[in-house]
Amino acid sequence: MQERNIMKIAVIGTGYVGLVTGVCFAECGHDVICVDNNRHKIDNLKKGIIPIYEPGLDSLVVDNATAQRLHFTTEIPEAVKVSEVIFIAVGTPPLPTGEADLSYIENVARQVACSMDSYKVIVEKSTVPVKTGEWVKRTIRFNNKDGVEFDVASNPEFLREGSAIGDFLKPDRIVVGVESDRAAELLRACYQPIIDQSVSFNLDTQQVIHQDPQDGKTPFLVTNVSSSELIKHASNSFLALKISYINAVANFCELAGADVEQVAMGMGLDSRIGNKFLNAGVGYGGSCFPKDVSAFLEISRELGYEFRLLDEVIRINKVQRELFIRKIKKAMWIVKEKKFAVLGLSFKPNTDDMREAPSIDIIEALLEEGASIRVYDPVAMDIARGHFGDRIEFCTDPYSTAEGADALILVTEWDEFIDMDLHRIYEILNYPIFIDGRNCFDPKRMRDIGFEYHCIGR
Ligand code: NAD
Ligand code: UGA
Repeated sequence: MQERNIMKIAVIGTGYVGLVTGVCFAECGHDVICVDNNRHKIDNLKKGIIPIYEPGLDSLVVDNATAQRLHFTTEIPEAVKVSEVIFIAVGTPPLPTGEADLSYIENVARQVACSMDSYKVIVEKSTVPVKTGEWVKRTIRFNNKDGVEFDVASNPEFLREGSAIGDFLKPDRIVVGVESDRAAELLRACYQPIIDQSVSFNLDTQQVIHQDPQDGKTPFLVTNVSSSELIKHASNSFLALKISYINAVANFCELAGADVEQVAMGMGLDSRIGNKFLNAGVGYGGSCFPKDVSAFLEISRELGYEFRLLDEVIRINKVQRELFIRKIKKAMWIVKEKKFAVLGLSFKPNTDDMREAPSIDIIEALLEEGASIRVYDPVAMDIARGHFGDRIEFCTDPYSTAEGADALILVTEWDEFIDMDLHRIYEILNYPIFIDGRNCFDPKRMRDIGFEYHCIGR
């Protein structure tokens, strides 16, 4: 294998993105220090205890920490002093107005500036509105008393929860927004093993692979900082738009007697449209799409453009949850005192993340109507306990959840639910009502088993 530059990298904020970024750069052979101001999180990480559920992450953390390529600290100055490239990966949650809360970014930028003693590239890894780079630069300039040289760059992250390692190591593209060649070259050096795929990910085996550099390179797009910031908001909003579009088509299908699965298949075969992100359902959730579409809308307004299309994306997504709740009520006639089995709590499969999860709105609406709820999720139970407390009953598998329930509601399409014994579920439900928010099953098969099967747009 060819000689590589070992980069000295700090990642500030050790959440989903920060931890995955840190561990993947370490796997690339770089020397990485991850910082978080949550001492409990850092103490646990030092012991090999991983704060999130993300397939494949725990062994990579342990291996790279053991190999002394991955370090953890609560001290920003300690990390800044030993690193040349500093990624900021703290949260940018929504404010009540819909704007992104950039106070965590500002706080970190200030602390970085006060600790710099040699040239640094400070990289926005967090998702931020366009123009944030200018504010970060100004903040660092004001707090960098010794006048140390620095660059601010943008490097948005496109990983998805649940497939984060594969997405990071085998991305469709790497985007960097820079103001100098020096910053571009340092960022290229960080990503070189991923660009030439000498460190990559086998999607079939779900394993990290190390191999000789490959010819088919990962696209490495260099833009100015504003364009790079905008690429992230525009990409997430476009994906959200695709979901809202297919959900609107699904609602139309129900009125027209068409089948949204067939419509999506027919649309997706056009390579200009593509078949991804055309699954109709209860609408998008998670910590990203809802907040990023709102933040994009708000920054557009601030800059003088009324991006009404995004208003409609948000509206359709909100209505989609309400329509699903209405569908449940219609299927049950009376909801009060009915017992519901809810399968799936996380906002999508393969994660324990419940931020903006459709399950929350659905369960809250049914509780409000006086229903009783039993739930099961393969990994999000602890987080759900924190949210719902003793207002709902927590079960250990799909069958104990369904036993004696008046209807089953499927909210998250975990494989465990797709593979469950439907005949057994049919037998143990009190009424054979199956309300599927993710179109997981063939309606004819469900009816043949004996279910009254309700789904989306079919
Ligand atoms: P997160 O909440 O999981 O992690 C953020 C971390 O930053 C937390 O551990 C927090 O303790 C830490 N932090 C906050 N202030 C700090 C400070 N002053 N010093 C040190 N640490 C501090 O968030 P996340 O999901 O990793 O998202 C981070 C950013 O990445 C957001 O802007 C998000 O939009 C973006 N993003 C997220 C995903 C995703 O799938 N979660 C994907 C792409 C981009
Ligand atoms: C999303 C993007 O896919 C990532 O590229 C991006 O990096 C990330 O946001 C981010 O910026 O944080 P993520 O939120 O992890 O990733 O999950 P997705 O797989 O995109 O799903 C988001 C939501 O859309 C889920 O609730 C999912 O159920 C829903 N969805 C997705 C649909 O309803 N239909 C679809 O066809 C696809």
